[in-house]
Amino acid sequence: MSIFHPQTSAQREQRDVLLASSLRPDGSPFPIAAEYPLVLGESGTQYSFCLGEPEAPLAHANLWPRRLISQTHDVVLTVGLIGNVATSSDHRGQGLMRTLFSELKSAASAQGLEGLVLWSDLVEFYQKLGFKSCGSELRWQFSRDKLRSLFLRQSNFAKIKNLSTHEAQRLLSLRYPVPFTLDRSPQEFQTLTKIPEVTLLASGHKDATYVILGKGCDMTCVVHEWGAPSAEALLMGVLAAAETADLPEIVLLTPKTLAQSWCQKMRPHAVAYAKHSMALSWWPDHSRAPDPLASSFIWGLDSI
Ligand SMILES: CC(C)(COP(=O)(O)OP(=O)(O)OC[C@H]1O[C@@H](n2cnc3c(N)ncnc32)[C@H](O)[C@@H]1OP(=O)(O)O)[C@@H](O)C(=O)NCCC(=O)NCCS
Repeated sequence: MSIFHPQTSAQREQRDVLLASSLRPDGSPFPIAAEYPLVLGESGTQYSFCLGEPEAPLAHANLWPRRLISQTHDVVLTVGLIGNVATSSDHRGQGLMRTLFSELKSAASAQGLEGLVLWSDLVEFYQKLGFKSCGSELRWQFSRDKLRSLFLRQSNFAKIKNLSTHEAQRLLSLRYPVPFTLDRSPQEFQTLTKIPEVTLLASGHKDATYVILGKGCDMTCVVHEWGAPSAEALLMGVLAAAETADLPEIVLLTPKTLAQSWCQKMRPHAVAYAKHSMALSWWPDHSRAPDPLASSFIWGLDSI
């Protein structure tokens, strides 16, 4: 048994069979590689770590190097994002994932990455591998009808299907400013908006606002990325997303650093809101995530 990157299309196919059976057990209308184009696509082979034999992978995880940047675009940390973690059902409980994670930690250190970050509800499992909760975000729940009653005028959001590089750059500049976030190029943004079930809505130039709803099989009723000049414009965007996708209830994720003035305007119109842990992370020499990561906000399209 060895650790390898799936080099041929046959090897990637076998990997995707393992991932689909483990992570999409009820089936999916699209291939799992379409949900994670930057790490499961042909050009992302080096981010794919398999354990087993090249034609028969038994366990898999992605390790994707990313840069955490400040508002002035200075790189403050380099981290490895982990995702698509799966062991073949008849080989679970034999220590394969522990072995693969030990390899990922060595690979991360060899690549100069300072720590590892992932998103999962399997907190107990990842705690066994040395991960701890890090950061937090606000999760808002809205009712479409309640939001509808707020606005007298019709909003002018339109679906964007083919994002140009120029438009991608413009939308990135509209995002709500956060102390730290992951760096993303306009080209990566273009690719990520092609993920199935991603709905990108943007409104005209005056109150320029955009919202992104859904991402493959994840975040089905969740606006996980947005840019807006005011709380009102953001709520209009959330309403537009709920109407476009015909969702009676919709969730919005915001940084925990969202200005108090925005929170005060949004709270009376929310059905519920609460602070949640943002991610899980592992650091070789520290027991806690370093401050920049702990106070960062990671937009939904950047997670794997
Ligand atoms: C979760 C999963 C990847 C674990 O892989 P695995 O190869 O069975 O894990 P290991 O055998 O290396 O287990 C490592 C440790 O975690 C524990 N563990 C395994 N699965 C666990 C779970 N679901 N919850 C809590 N602990 C778990 C093991 O008991 C072991 O602990 P120990 O070393 O103290 O005895 C595998 O069960 C799987 O593919 N599940 C379906 C897909 C999935 O949920 N992926 C994660 C998505 S974020």
